[in-house]
Amino acid sequence: MYTEKVLDHFQNPRNVGEIEDASGIGTVGNAKCGDIMQMSIKIGEGEVIEDVKFKTFGCGAAVATSSMATELIKGKTIDEAMRLTNSAVVEALEGLPPQKIHCSVLAEEAIKAAIEDYRKKKTK
Ligand code: FES
Repeated sequence: MYTEKVLDHFQNPRNVGEIEDASGIGTVGNAKCGDIMQMSIKIGEGEVIEDVKFKTFGCGAAVATSSMATELIKGKTIDEAMRLTNSAVVEALEGLPPQKIHCSVLAEEAIKAAIEDYRKKKTK
């Protein structure tokens, strides 16, 4: 029921961990299952995302979607990353079972929260 891509990203998740001198950190939780996702991002010249890492207390689908999401936003500007939707991540993974779609929302929200955090810090 899971695609090869989902299994690959679940078994070999990319960009796991936390960036020490992160430009922004976002932590979000899913009310349905209680899982938690944290994204840390490093922003460089031209507001490009130079590095991104995630940590999660989440299910396999949350691990796979976050892993794919980090790959999709690395090297992009924060404006481009803000436009990344959970459906684009699910599409890149070639689908998720319907009852697992909410897990992909965690990844999208955590990225947005990390960017918001960066923007807040910048205007201080
Ligand atoms: Fe909680 Fe997937 S069941 S994130």
